[in-house]
Amino acid sequence: MPPLMRPLSRGALLASALVVGALLVPRPTPSAIEGSAHDFSAVDPSQQICIFCHTTHRADTSVVDAPLWNHAVTNRTYQLYNSPTLDATVSQPSGASRLCLSCHDGTVAVDSYGGRAGVIFLGGRLAIGADELTNDHPVSFLYDDALAAADGELHRPSATPSGLGSTIDDDLLFNGRLECSSCHDVHNGASAEAIGEKLLVITQVGSQLCLTCHDK
Ligand code: HEC
Ligand code: HEC
Ligand code: HEC
Ligand code: HEC
Repeated sequence: MPPLMRPLSRGALLASALVVGALLVPRPTPSAIEGSAHDFSAVDPSQQICIFCHTTHRADTSVVDAPLWNHAVTNRTYQLYNSPTLDATVSQPSGASRLCLSCHDGTVAVDSYGGRAGVIFLGGRLAIGADELTNDHPVSFLYDDALAAADGELHRPSATPSGLGSTIDDDLLFNGRLECSSCHDVHNGASAEAIGEKLLVITQVGSQLCLTCHDK
């Protein structure tokens, strides 16, 4: 496999444009996929951004609830996280988490979209699923009030504010399930406080992200 090609999303030109922007504007505007880690327009012949993941027609519907998907999907089966204190029933990554892993397990090329066979593979720290999911925060499980009660140190998702406007359930869960997107916004539309923090939806200053759900 070719190594991760880091500059793929940020050419020298784009990088300098971003630096200039940073000097002029005190804080980047939220909801900005342009120029973010997921802007690969530099390697698309027509310089599109969304096309690596979405299409308006003939989308791949193999993953349930996938949003008009246009990227080749990983078919890997993973070993999952477990521990003596884990109460949740964790399943193979489904929904949006399987879509993330379709680049982030290192088996499918970033530029395998729209039927193309790509050549740029993720590696190293960015390939979250490459070494199985045994050492990662669990994803793809139901996080409901019953789980919170069983665990005793989790906030009730139906009633606890997320800090993003509504409850944990409304803002952070997908069909009641915790997924990669519970913590990350793939489109870089995170809350302004979390800008620059690995696409997190809530800042990690004071471990605020963790304490949103964990009652520690
Ligand atoms: C690197 C992959 C990727 C790129 C690039 C991307 N998306 Fe997405 N998008 C996703 C994933 C994964 C989801 C579903 C999970 C989620 O919402 O977090 C999603 C969900 C969506 C949704 C439905 C949910 C929502 O957030 O409203 C819309 C609409 C959307 N994307 C539009 C866009 C547009 C428009 C662009 C280009 C400007 C774009 N996306 C670029 C991966 C991507
Ligand atoms: C089409 C391939 C693709 C998909 C799908 C994808 N990513 Fe990525 N992601 C990348 C690449 C490539 C990078 C590294 C870009 C760089 O460093 O220039 C990256 C970087 C990241 C980073 C690090 C950001 C930073 O600032 O260092 C996070 C976090 C991330 N992705 C999370 C996700 C999540 C969560 C999803 C699903 C909701 C997802 N990605 C879907 C390709 C993808
Ligand atoms: C419970 C919250 C949470 C979940 C769920 C989660 N992440 Fe993360 N992720 C984080 C945090 C926090 C960081 C920053 C860690 C750091 O900087 O050391 C991070 C970092 C990353 C990075 C950057 C790694 C690096 O070293 O630069 C990638 C890529 C990533 N996550 C992808 C994913 C993918 C893919 C999934 C789903 C399989 C996922 N994350 C699920 C919280 C989460
Ligand atoms: C969106 C809610 C949410 C966020 C945000 C979140 N977690 Fe979790 N986390 C959970 C749930 C729910 C479980 C499953 C707990 C269980 O079943 O015992 C879990 C499981 C865990 C576990 C494994 C527990 C065990 O018994 O093995 C650890 C450790 C953990 N989270 C730490 C963190 C850290 C650290 C952060 C911040 C980076 C974080 N979590 C962010 C909801 C969340």
